[in-house]
Amino acid sequence: MKILHVVGARPNFMKTAPIMAEMSHYPDHFQQVLVHTGQHYDDNMSKIFLEDLEMPSPDKYLNVGSGTHTEQTARIMVAFEPVVLRYRPDWVMVVGDVNSTLACALVCAKIGVKIAHIEAGLRSRDHSMPEEINRLLTDHIADLLFTPSKDASANLLREGISPSRIHFVGNVMIDTLIKMLPKALNRKIVATMGLKYKKYVLVTLHRPSNVDDPDTLKEIFEALKRISKLMPVIFPVHPRTRQNVEGLKLLSLNSRVKLTQPLGYLDFLALMHSARLVLTDSGGIQEETTYLGVPCLTVRPSTERPITIEAGTNRLVASKGVEIIGAIQDIMTRCKKNTSRPELWDGLAAKRIIQIMMAL
Ligand code: UD1
Repeated sequence: MKILHVVGARPNFMKTAPIMAEMSHYPDHFQQVLVHTGQHYDDNMSKIFLEDLEMPSPDKYLNVGSGTHTEQTARIMVAFEPVVLRYRPDWVMVVGDVNSTLACALVCAKIGVKIAHIEAGLRSRDHSMPEEINRLLTDHIADLLFTPSKDASANLLREGISPSRIHFVGNVMIDTLIKMLPKALNRKIVATMGLKYKKYVLVTLHRPSNVDDPDTLKEIFEALKRISKLMPVIFPVHPRTRQNVEGLKLLSLNSRVKLTQPLGYLDFLALMHSARLVLTDSGGIQEETTYLGVPCLTVRPSTERPITIEAGTNRLVASKGVEIIGAIQDIMTRCKKNTSRPELWDGLAAKRIIQIMMAL
């Protein structure tokens, strides 16, 4: 069976890696091709992840780069179509909810190549998020839908998708976390940055709704400055956010809010594991903190991953200074909460996917 895997943006690598590794155990069954769209292209947004996650170099790099959503999606489609026609895979596997996911799925749907969507069924019900559009459309044109949680399967059923296409397999990103955690814990980054175990706050923000509006970004930074008087704040900055932070001159040189370049997978996992709490607007980090049992504040009005709230680690917070400060103080002063890990977040999701593919 010929499988073509698509990666494009930073959160894709940790989802595709365990599937490729598992398939490589069955060389008589699977012939694999890896295509990188080039949606993310900086070394610290892409190359470092391929290295950290021990992935093979892509067979094809489409070099699409940045642009408006329409430009980027259209460019990926135009560049991807001849690649699929050349390789003629039996299945194309797309992961997550970025523009590369939808663009490549759409190409396959139009030329009759089968699509498997990994991390299917997540819904925030907020159509102003480009990722929600990507998730909805990809799920409705995919032939096989692998879900990370039962609520995701229920969302798909509610939308009229046939149960025969839906498989609850667990969370592939947690497969990667479990595999890589021992290696991450050997990293020296926490000590090198002068940080102490459970004595710092880790921040990541890149959603347009938080970082593209100057007033919102200023308000969040004022809150971070206040918090940094209690504990150091470490903030690896996404390129989108950096442009705005620099433009607005939000920090003085001696600030206790430390900005760094975006980090690779292992260093970031090490920092997340030892943080007192994480403030983020990422999707994946809500899940990783849930597995690690680290308190997470998600600066968004909704989440497509409600299971992380049910697990007791995650809480939504508005992008308002008082709310962020209040929520952080609340976590810092309360006793450790009882938290749980969602069903099938056990390191075996890729194995389940491969068993299902082999039985096709
Ligand atoms: C994308 C995904 C988002 C995901 C995020 C993870 C979509 C719709 N969004 O958002 O779901 O959470 O990736 O990072 O697919 N840039 C660089 N170097 C790079 C990549 C981007 O400098 O390697 C800059 C460019 O100025 C670009 C901007 O970052 O315009 C945004 O990049 P883009 O890929 O459009 O979206 P993200 O915000 O990264």
